[in-house]
Amino acid sequence: MKRALITGISGQDGSYLTELLLAKGYEVHGIVRRTSSFSRGRIDPFYGAKVDPSGKLVLHYGDMGDEKNLRKLLEKVRPDEVYNLASQSHVGISFEMPEYSTDVNALGTLRLLDAINDYCPEARCYQASTSELFGSADESPQTEQTRFRPNSPYAVAKLYAYWMTVNYRQTYGMYACNGILFNHESPRRGENFVTRKITQTVARIAAGEADCLYIGNMDAQRDWGYAPDFVRAMWLMLQQEKADDYVIATGELHSVREFIAKSCAYVGMRIEWSGEGMTECGIDASSGKTVVQVDPKYYRPIDIDSVLGDATKAERELGWKPEVKFDQLVEIMMEADVAATQKVQ
Ligand code: NAP
Ligand code: GDD
Repeated sequence: MKRALITGISGQDGSYLTELLLAKGYEVHGIVRRTSSFSRGRIDPFYGAKVDPSGKLVLHYGDMGDEKNLRKLLEKVRPDEVYNLASQSHVGISFEMPEYSTDVNALGTLRLLDAINDYCPEARCYQASTSELFGSADESPQTEQTRFRPNSPYAVAKLYAYWMTVNYRQTYGMYACNGILFNHESPRRGENFVTRKITQTVARIAAGEADCLYIGNMDAQRDWGYAPDFVRAMWLMLQQEKADDYVIATGELHSVREFIAKSCAYVGMRIEWSGEGMTECGIDASSGKTVVQVDPKYYRPIDIDSVLGDATKAERELGWKPEVKFDQLVEIMMEADVAATQKVQ
């Protein structure tokens, strides 16, 4: 039985990856943080090997800031595969917490790579790199060859982690890969990322539980995919003959405004836009109510206007292709948030 270790197992991607690996019969070990209230809601359903009787889930307390703890865990678990998904993953918040974001995202990766190299150098490693590395990119779409121009503390820290992963591969011959993943979403997405904030609030507005969606930069454009498709790519990267780095993306670009309009359409609201910039708002055409308003507090000091990925290499070498694209993604997320709202009522 193969043994995998996942950092960030309680997050969106960690939960889908756990589900995938358990279904493949892996023994899955995950690192969770001590928190005052439990933060394991996403993985609770898989605890006790409910997905596949041959699979097994084991959780360990740990933190990317605690080097000794990581070293002890690697020595004890000695995994065949390591997926480093742990991160202070909110770009906006990284401007408020640059040092902490660097410690977790950059130095945390170094601590982990070093422990792997000392205790289980044959382990195959996946590093959660990101399209944020491209920042204000010089070209579109972005490929593995596109120059990195990170423009947030989050992205600068992830750039360090990217190059450390390459460095451990080159220096010590470790099988270490960077997945340069573009935005991927799901009903398990954290509630303060834009897509989930939209689907959750629109579902509440439709149920009469909220009046308005307060939002930041609606002109921002992203290449949004579906998290279960993207964790499949992570696993594929660790099953190749040779370690390499891959862009994973859908190749479709949509704006935040489009995401809002599509989500509203799902609950039968047609949005008419009026005003510009900070005064722009969205009005429900049938009721005349203002249901979308801009709040400057959701703007970032610097934002990425648009990122669009070209996953040709992943398709050619890994046989990976996204199964879900934008329209279906919005439907999946709206369906889940509408159902969750009805459950509460
Ligand atoms: P997420 O939902 O925010 O999950 C982050 C995970 O990291 C959580 O399990 C969190 O634990 C854990 N974590 C945070 N700080 C930690 C620390 N100091 N020590 C140990 N664990 C810690 O993120 P995600 O969307 O699943 O993303 C997974 C990874 O992919 C992240 O590294 C992210 O930066 C990267 N990425 C994401 C996307 C995307 O669009 N989703 C795209 C490209 C790259 P708690 O539950 O205790 O907070
Ligand atoms: N979060 C948030 N909240 N974003 C908003 C809001 C809002 O109210 N209003 C507008 N936006 C805009 C942001 O300014 C940004 O341009 C865009 O929506 C997407 O924001 P997020 O959903 O927070 O995602 P992100 O692209 O910054 O970062 C996510 O994707 C990266 C991959 O490109 C995170 O998952 C990162 O961890 C990941 O690396």
